[in-house]
Amino acid sequence: MTTPKIVVTGRIPEPGIDLMKEVGEVWAWTHDDPIPHDIRNEQLASADAVVTILTDTVDEAFLDAAPNLKIVANVAVGYNNINVPACHARGVTVTNTPGVLTDATADLAMGLILMATRRLGEGERLIRSGAPWKWGMFMMLGTGLQGRQLGIVGMGGIGQALAQRARAFGMSIVYHNRSAVSADIEDALSARRCDLEELLATSDVVSLNCPYSQETHHLIDAQALSTMRDDAVLINTARGPIVDESALVDALVSGGISAAALDVFEHEPEVHPGLLDLDNVVLVPHLGSATIETRTAMATLAAQNVVGYFDGSGPVTPVT
Ligand code: DGY
Repeated sequence: MTTPKIVVTGRIPEPGIDLMKEVGEVWAWTHDDPIPHDIRNEQLASADAVVTILTDTVDEAFLDAAPNLKIVANVAVGYNNINVPACHARGVTVTNTPGVLTDATADLAMGLILMATRRLGEGERLIRSGAPWKWGMFMMLGTGLQGRQLGIVGMGGIGQALAQRARAFGMSIVYHNRSAVSADIEDALSARRCDLEELLATSDVVSLNCPYSQETHHLIDAQALSTMRDDAVLINTARGPIVDESALVDALVSGGISAAALDVFEHEPEVHPGLLDLDNVVLVPHLGSATIETRTAMATLAAQNVVGYFDGSGPVTPVT
């Protein structure tokens, strides 16, 4: 085979680019702004491999533009931006970056739990507003985590890493997952598996850590929110459309739940205007994996997948 052409559609850390230069000719978009469609399609026309970021949509039209494509290496653990069956039907391998962002995302989820339960965003906004304030015995009281129950929806690597952190804060853990995690892990985390309804009805904090798919679209809708306790907090670091954002606004306004903290949004990067007006919501811009170390590790793993494909050793983390 001639030297493969590898197209990188978004700016990624250099170590990933350098690694891929060992096996092919790399063309990389190097700006933070999204790549214009015409430039992308011009490059895809001769691409053997494409390295994508989560804002790329790899659908039939994308694949039509890339007739020689052999591998799509997504720089993200989530791959809901890729039509995997369409890729596989055309013999195109798909890879993602599991594992390397587990700690960063669990750290962020724990941070959001603390922000929501201790009202840190609200406090920060108060100071920044310039409004007069002074210490008060009953000022901005939150709730502690010790002895509270965390319900984790999706007990993969990130869910487990979050459970570990929450245990250190004195929380008890229940989880909902298609299959049970091993008894050893359950023991180590003192975690108990239960159905979604029980988790929602009994947890002080509910954290979403499951992948997004047709099955999890609006998993947290008006009905699910009404099952939650009125003093409960919802955390989403997974994918926005798992939550029906309009129903969430209604629940937060009516007191159906007490607070929410969101790293991801249903129509990202747009945020439901109703959320922007609420004090009992923490909003951060999809920062789950946003550490220098983690983003470098993600780019490196995506590059290893491409290198493995072309040197014959095989991709490290293929999506099946
Ligand atoms: C992922 O990898 O899916 C994360 O959302 C990126 O931050």
